[in-house]
Amino acid sequence: MSPLPCVPSAQSGKQARGLHVITWGCQMNVYDSARMTDVLRPLGYRAVDAPDNADMIILNTCHIRDRAAEKVFSELGRLRLVKEARAQAGHKTVLAVAGCVAQAEGREILARAPYVDIVLGPQTYHRLPEMVARAARAAGAVIETDFPVEQKFDFLPPEREVPAGGAAFLTIQEGCDKFCSFCVVPYTRGAEASRPVNAVLEEARRLVAHGVKEITLLGQNVNAYHGEGPDGAIWGLARLTAELADGIGVARIRYTTSHPRDMDADLIAAHRDQRALMPFLHLPVQSGSDRVLAAMNRGHTAQEYRDLVTRLRAARPDLALSSDFIVGHPGETEDDFEQTMQLIRDVGFAQAYSFKYSPRPGTPASGAGGQVPEEVKDARLQKLQALLREQQDAFNAATVGRRVSVLFTGRGRKPGQISGKSPYLQAVHVDGPDSLIGQVAEVDIVKLYTNSLGGVLTGETGKA
Ligand code: SAH
Ligand code: SF4
Ligand code: F3S
Repeated sequence: MSPLPCVPSAQSGKQARGLHVITWGCQMNVYDSARMTDVLRPLGYRAVDAPDNADMIILNTCHIRDRAAEKVFSELGRLRLVKEARAQAGHKTVLAVAGCVAQAEGREILARAPYVDIVLGPQTYHRLPEMVARAARAAGAVIETDFPVEQKFDFLPPEREVPAGGAAFLTIQEGCDKFCSFCVVPYTRGAEASRPVNAVLEEARRLVAHGVKEITLLGQNVNAYHGEGPDGAIWGLARLTAELADGIGVARIRYTTSHPRDMDADLIAAHRDQRALMPFLHLPVQSGSDRVLAAMNRGHTAQEYRDLVTRLRAARPDLALSSDFIVGHPGETEDDFEQTMQLIRDVGFAQAYSFKYSPRPGTPASGAGGQVPEEVKDARLQKLQALLREQQDAFNAATVGRRVSVLFTGRGRKPGQISGKSPYLQAVHVDGPDSLIGQVAEVDIVKLYTNSLGGVLTGETGKA
């Protein structure tokens, strides 16, 4: 990420200090890391690439799967050495652990890693300046993992560092009340809450003014969005995306992650009516077996998911679908797994993420009977991923020979190459000038690579 010139530089009198943020986990953590940097900017902190040059290091963690805490402790061991080396050279380093592991295991972190100065949950980072001041004063560490009554978004600075490349994330909704059997998110991110419409529009307006073409709206259940509108009415996601496109001028809009239960008729119609909505939807189904879906507390059947896909494709025939899958949830039989394979064959996915079920402390599934042996999970995951890979390759192969709009987000790996994203979220590279980075242009797709497509610029600017 690179700062734009319009972001105010270090306030006069504030000495520049290095800040190094390490980000693990989902896009919401990527957004949070950027916003923590924004919160600390008025204190003189500037992002630096290496921890060795950093007066403050933030490790922004994820708790979603296996060994999350162990991974944190091993990284902290490494950062401790950095902190000690810097201390020997006469520099103080503030070490902070943020994110979902901090939320879930804050006390344990302080007990096992007493050299950590600050532990903060995802809902409290607007208070970072105060925590930094307290850490400087106090002998002990600072811990902030309560869910505060105030909404952190109301306290974040309006200016954001805008990523180069024309694409940005914007969190509009947080938390989750769905309590899927396997998932820690409701415990780490708290109750579901939506930001007011005006706050979202204002943040989007600034991004667009700084040249952003594509905004990905983020939320753990983003399509459950129900923000208070300026008219006092509650706006759903479809109304919000319409206003972002027509009122604010966002050229490309994506949203993630959606829950099938919240995919309402308005949002389906938006995929038909709103050209700015990109024809790609991440709609996790997790399993194709009704028995497992019920055990997971997902609140829908496999047939309901299939019907939803049919309605979405009727609205937007070229819609590319993506999903998350879990294999080996407690109680999953070979037959249940086969039903997941069948659902994948029936639906056809452009891409997907798949995981072995991993017991998370404190979640209902972790204590359930019928835990599936590791080697069975391994075998199922392999089969499932082979099928998904086939589908992804077929989807990408079908793009060869087509003309698509690409938002160029950066340089490619080879000199003279630039790369970006198709409307279907495929990585595309072409030979082209750096001046196209941050712009949308039309591309003829000519070649298929393992995880990307090669194309040729047509010379036309893109439609979106
Ligand atoms: N809110 C999203 C998911 C957020 S978590 C939704 O409901 O779809 C991202 C993905 O991680 C989930 O979709 C799930 O596939 C996976 N995941 C979550 N907890 C997991 C666990 N305990 N074991 C394995 N995978 C898990
Ligand atoms: Fe987790 Fe389920 Fe909530 Fe998604 S909907 S964040 S999987 S509890
Ligand atoms: Fe991980 Fe927390 Fe995101 S557990 S997936 S960083 S919400």
